[in-house]
Amino acid sequence: MSAAPGVEVRRLAAEGLVEVVHRGRSLRAVLPARLARLPDARDRALLEALLFESCRWLGRHRALLAQLMDRPPGSDRARVEALLLIGLTQLDILQLPPHAVVSATAEVARVWRQPGIVGLVNAVLRRWLREHGRLEDRLREDEVARWSHPRWLIEALRQDWGPCRAEAILAAGNRAAPTWLRLHPRAGSRDEVLAQWAAQGIAAVPGPEGWPRALRLEGAGSPERLPGWEEGWLAVQDAAAQAVAGMLTLQPGMRVLDACAAPGGKAAALLEAEPAIELLALDRDPDRLARMRAGMARLGHRVQLRCADAGDPAAWWDGRPFAAIVLDAPCSATGVIRRQPDIKWHRRPSDLEALCAAQARLLDALWPLLAPGGRLLYTTCSVLARENRAQVEAFLARRPDAEALALPDRLGHASGPGRQRFPGELEMDGFFYAALRKTG
Ligand SMILES: C[S@@+](CC[C@H](N)C(=O)[O-])C[C@H]1O[C@@H](n2cnc3c(N)ncnc32)[C@H](O)[C@@H]1O
Repeated sequence: MSAAPGVEVRRLAAEGLVEVVHRGRSLRAVLPARLARLPDARDRALLEALLFESCRWLGRHRALLAQLMDRPPGSDRARVEALLLIGLTQLDILQLPPHAVVSATAEVARVWRQPGIVGLVNAVLRRWLREHGRLEDRLREDEVARWSHPRWLIEALRQDWGPCRAEAILAAGNRAAPTWLRLHPRAGSRDEVLAQWAAQGIAAVPGPEGWPRALRLEGAGSPERLPGWEEGWLAVQDAAAQAVAGMLTLQPGMRVLDACAAPGGKAAALLEAEPAIELLALDRDPDRLARMRAGMARLGHRVQLRCADAGDPAAWWDGRPFAAIVLDAPCSATGVIRRQPDIKWHRRPSDLEALCAAQARLLDALWPLLAPGGRLLYTTCSVLARENRAQVEAFLARRPDAEALALPDRLGHASGPGRQRFPGELEMDGFFYAALRKTG
């Protein structure tokens, strides 16, 4: 049966949500194929909003559903629950017109050939419309519903940062993130670019002091359509990540290793700060490395790329020491939940054990490759102390020839040997930075 466009977009959203919530796939992986099935740009924007906001508010809406009904009936429970979650997202978050939402969402069940579910979806969504004020009061007693984050993460944030900061991090995680861009030096001065864009009706603002090449888009719109994109004058990169290039005093000819480099944002920022460095970029994921190769070609950067395990230098190192190493380590990504809200449901506390072990292994394996006096930057997009402050403190305790360098206040709050940026501060992602110098 072919469905009306309003029904089709909701069907694609519900089926996509099942893939994310029940099959462990990432939002970014399930979105493109579904977007490609919608010819109308407004439907595509709605599908994206439905999937992102349903993931963001999954904890809240599951708690609402538990109040509104018993477990969804039938063998197809996951799909029916997803459809109801999509319905609640439209009413509660996107605040779309109720009549259209209820009928188009319920009709999806008919496309699935489950006519019995049409009435159920109708009844549940109409009940929410009548009773949401009363239901809201009860949500306040349930933390997972209130913050729409998993309990283990709420507790870990409280333990690391205390209740007030933890709540600020959780609230920031529930807000959509702005688009930050990095301007290539070839594009000319940032002020000139902003003035030209303003004349064309493109609203953007410069990054704060200390971020000379950063600008933030105001409002929606695809960066790929901006003037200068095709020419490689722009790249999408959060300002927190852009700061890495300014933390190294790069010199022409300097030998630099980017150990976990794909998809290449920090490598590109390093090359834009000093194009004449000798940069070796590694990643062990061939697909991510292929994306990096394409991205570097668009930006016009020449870099030596290698698919390898950075933790096994015997397999790829030629024995020549590096003056600087960037270890942008694999991590929980808890600092970028506002950009990728599915992360919070996919991560498990047990992942943390494995991630911390991998980070320690990479630090230990890469340190001997650093020249005396050289710097290793350790960064993550995590807000968990175990991966950040505690990880670097443990490393310093193991390595008497390593010392932590002081970092500027603008990078965030002092946190042990590094600096922690919390998500939402200065409109940036959550991020951790430490700069380690080899003393001997
Ligand atoms: C945080 S991401 C890097 C982002 C990148 N630095 C950028 O700015 O675009 C971490 C990367 O580490 C890679 N990785 C994880 N373990 C690795 C290992 N043992 N050796 C090399 N790369 C690894 C992952 O494939 C992933 O691409």
